[in-house]
Amino acid sequence: MSVALDKERFGPWALVTGASSGIGKEFARQIAASGINIVLVARRKDLLEEVGVESSRRYGVEHRVVVLDVSREDFIGQLTSATDDLDIGLVVSNAGTGNPGEFLKLGRQLHQTTLRVSTMAHLDITHHFGAKLAKRRRGGLILAGAMGAESGVPRMANDGAAKAYVHSLGEALHYEFKPLGVYVTVLAAGFTNTAVLDKFGLDPKTMPMKPMSVEQCVSEGLSGLRKNRSRIIPGRLNRIMNALVPASLARKLEADLIGKGLARKSASAVGRLPSELKS
Ligand SMILES: NC(=O)c1ccc[n+]([C@@H]2O[C@H](COP(=O)([O-])OP(=O)(O)OC[C@H]3O[C@@H](n4cnc5c(N)ncnc54)[C@H](OP(=O)(O)O)[C@@H]3O)[C@@H](O)[C@H]2O)c1
Repeated sequence: MSVALDKERFGPWALVTGASSGIGKEFARQIAASGINIVLVARRKDLLEEVGVESSRRYGVEHRVVVLDVSREDFIGQLTSATDDLDIGLVVSNAGTGNPGEFLKLGRQLHQTTLRVSTMAHLDITHHFGAKLAKRRRGGLILAGAMGAESGVPRMANDGAAKAYVHSLGEALHYEFKPLGVYVTVLAAGFTNTAVLDKFGLDPKTMPMKPMSVEQCVSEGLSGLRKNRSRIIPGRLNRIMNALVPASLARKLEADLIGKGLARKSASAVGRLPSELKS
């Protein structure tokens, strides 16, 4: 499953942050399948190299690995130096994770790092690459948001709030960049089957609603970009739920699901302790 992208508009190079795993890794694969060279950004070098080598082998594209922590204040300078010689036509700002837990039980430091990854990194990336794309008068930007973020996500309060920023930024830039020939799409995914689910204590086999595959999530995202949609919620059922379920009920459903997952996770962690430490 992949969507063919116009190399003239979105090539010859694309950049994907968070390309070592999950949704970002699949973006890299599907973009490479269109014959577009890829810059792969994340912290885990070995995984990025695997993605790059495999994409070059399968699709004959070039790849460049940039090992970077986007929560660092100076990351955009490093990313600029690592990519300034390339003609980049598509940027997928996707790096991020989920930090489930009650707001007061999570450390302030973690909240602040999450906020940098999920807001400042998108700001720096869209500002730097937005200017470059506008100058060439064609190209695309995809920003990873999350379904339901604007309504507030209990037990992921800070993550949800940060993603609401991404939605607002992306929708506004969609409007501003359109006359410049630059497409901007926010990908507001619901639960998707990646490593993140384990952090929530969620098992795709027992979840009340099956999480989406990364293949479908990414192909719907790319197809939305191709049509220059301002926001895409992948999956018909997700779109129906997003339109019909009142925000107060959505908050309750999410809080219950995350709460149960976290309880299961902590019970299984206790189960793994040596017996003398259990009581
Ligand atoms: N899966 C879902 O259900 C879901 C739902 C809604 C939204 N999303 C969003 O989709 C995006 C991708 O998530 P995923 O589910 O694919 O998770 P994932 O499999 O854990 O992948 C996250 C990616 O982000 C990178 N990353 C995280 N922190 C980083 C940092 N400080 N600097 C550089 N790279 C960093 C990770 O690479 P390294 O660890 O190698 O740095 C990894 O490549 C995130 O923005 C997430 O919030 C996911």
